[in-house]
Amino acid sequence: MNTTIHFNDSKHCCNTDINTPFVEFQHVHKSYLVHQQPIKIIEDFNLKIFEGEFIAIVGSSGCGKSTLLRLLAGLDQEFEGQIQIESKNIHQVRNDCAVVFQEHRLFPWLNVEQNIELGILNKNISKVEKKQRIQQSIISIGLQGFEKAYPHQLSGGMAQRVSIARSLITQPKIFLLDEPFGALDALTRHQMQQELLRIHTQEKITTIFITHDVEEAVSLADRVIILKPHPGCIEQIVSIDLPRPRNRIHPELNQLKEHIFQKLTHHLN
Ligand SMILES: Nc1ncnc2c1ncn2[C@@H]1O[C@H](COP(=O)(O)OP(=O)(O)OP(=O)(O)O)[C@@H](O)[C@H]1O
Ligand SMILES: [Mg+2]
Repeated sequence: MNTTIHFNDSKHCCNTDINTPFVEFQHVHKSYLVHQQPIKIIEDFNLKIFEGEFIAIVGSSGCGKSTLLRLLAGLDQEFEGQIQIESKNIHQVRNDCAVVFQEHRLFPWLNVEQNIELGILNKNISKVEKKQRIQQSIISIGLQGFEKAYPHQLSGGMAQRVSIARSLITQPKIFLLDEPFGALDALTRHQMQQELLRIHTQEKITTIFITHDVEEAVSLADRVIILKPHPGCIEQIVSIDLPRPRNRIHPELNQLKEHIFQKLTHHLN
């Protein structure tokens, strides 16, 4: 069992750098115009992400985490530098990137089945296959019996599972999650984390997960990217070479948690 922990510098972040990255941010800068003045939000962000990796991004509120996710999903194309997926620049919103936000964003007038179907509405597949895939995805999130339920009839965790199913039914190459479990109670959150790990292990989708919760980051990720604010840039990258599922009271996990927490808060003092 390998329990080595690397505290890596962003400049020497990973010993797999020699391989071709699946996603690559190269010298990415992003500014917003506020009262006609450009305000720098992201400064010289460089990161290589490898296929099948689970990356967590942590950082204080406003440091640019969601901005980075929007850039990667192609939802915002105004930036300097380069962002590549499979060595190609991003020019538009990508169909192979699925995004899950903190709030479930389900359509209230559509039931569970219909909300999930939206993910494959324009796919060129037969009605029968569509129906099968929807049914399979409902089984995979454990919501059999709730096919006809509307979002207001679901709990927060159930609704978030539907939104994850709607994203995954598109069979994305990259799964982007922006604090998806932030609004859930501790127990539901734990269940959802296990579900996400199961999906990641099974589907091997490259996953980028934003969270405020350091424990969540170290429990789930292969690497944790620590951002520092004003402007947002990488403070440090921490590799977590602990096997999954991870025991939350594992001393090394706690040591990592403490280390990341220190990094996140030291500039506040
Ligand atoms: N459209 C916009 N115009 C101007 N400034 C913006 C815009 N969108 C975001 N910002 C600013 O960019 C910064 C980064 O925002 P972003 O949403 O990426 O932060 P975040 O790290 O995701 O924060 P949180 O953890 O609170 O979600 C913030 O200071 C925010 O005020
Ligand atoms: Mg955000």
